[in-house]
Amino acid sequence: MKRLLVTGASGFLGSRIVEFYKDKFEIFAPTHAELDITDEKDVLAKFEEWNPDYVIHCAAISAVARCEQEPDMSWKINVEGSIHIAKASAKIHAKCIICSSDQIYFGSTENGPHKETECVLPYNVYGREKLKAEEACLAIDADCVLLRLSWMYDRKTLYKQENSNFMRMLLDKMRTEEVLLYPVHDIRGITDVNEVVENLEKMFTVPGGVYNFGSPNKNNTYDTVYEVFSELGLDTQRLQRNEDAFMNNPRDISMCQQKLNACGIYFSTTKDAMLRNIKEGLSSNDE
Ligand SMILES: NC(=O)c1ccc[n+]([C@@H]2O[C@H](COP(=O)([O-])OP(=O)(O)OC[C@H]3O[C@@H](n4cnc5c(N)ncnc54)[C@H](OP(=O)(O)O)[C@@H]3O)[C@@H](O)[C@H]2O)c1
Repeated sequence: MKRLLVTGASGFLGSRIVEFYKDKFEIFAPTHAELDITDEKDVLAKFEEWNPDYVIHCAAISAVARCEQEPDMSWKINVEGSIHIAKASAKIHAKCIICSSDQIYFGSTENGPHKETECVLPYNVYGREKLKAEEACLAIDADCVLLRLSWMYDRKTLYKQENSNFMRMLLDKMRTEEVLLYPVHDIRGITDVNEVVENLEKMFTVPGGVYNFGSPNKNNTYDTVYEVFSELGLDTQRLQRNEDAFMNNPRDISMCQQKLNACGIYFSTTKDAMLRNIKEGLSSNDE
């Protein structure tokens, strides 16, 4: 059995990776307490001890607002921590997959869908950290794979304490009388995390580099949800346009899938995955 090391395995994505691949790989999934990625020496020692064939690096400060508030702390984890992971992976010749973000495209002067080759100028601290981590990790190990992930959701909650996510909130609110408010100045390939998890193993064999890794979507979030509601025959009157969010700085961080598709990897469109999840969510008792 090949050995897979997952960092940040208690997080939203890492926990789902461990759950999905637990019978396919011998998994090492240290908690934050067991392996602090800011400790370079310990990272290398643990990598040498576990000797994984593949590494999926999910540990991060993933909350954009927290990075703005505590940039020194988040730099240590998102940039320096990722560098430690790339260095240790290179030392033991493990294929290293590092989670990056579509937020790198927020601030771009070009319209979406954005390509990996585009010149980018990230608007927020989190985006700048992710870009720096990408560049540094690739400089250390050209075989490193950097995945620009979009906002991910799951219809199901895996652990009781985990934060609610886009789809869970939508399904929960649909059971109430609340209005459903979605931004019109935000275009993003919101993605079903299960597609990310399933597609991840295909990245173990691709050449190193940066890859957009999420659903294609050309519409703003309000229009996407509106189309889904219309097709499912749901009450579109409940949907309200949020004109305030991103009003002063409209965001289009939709991603082009050409490079990924050339590797034989495909994601559903944001709309199709939403259609599927809402349909399944309404006909089940998931929480
Ligand atoms: N979720 C999304 O929609 C999304 C979108 C785009 C990109 N991403 C990226 O995808 C990756 C996974 O995201 P996620 O949503 O799963 O994040 P998450 O739920 O916030 O989980 C982050 C994980 O990192 C761990 N961690 C934090 N600092 C650490 C340290 N110094 N050493 C070791 N572990 C540490 C956390 O453990 P503790 O909680 O115990 O500290 C937690 O397990 C991240 O790189 C994120 O930036 C996520």
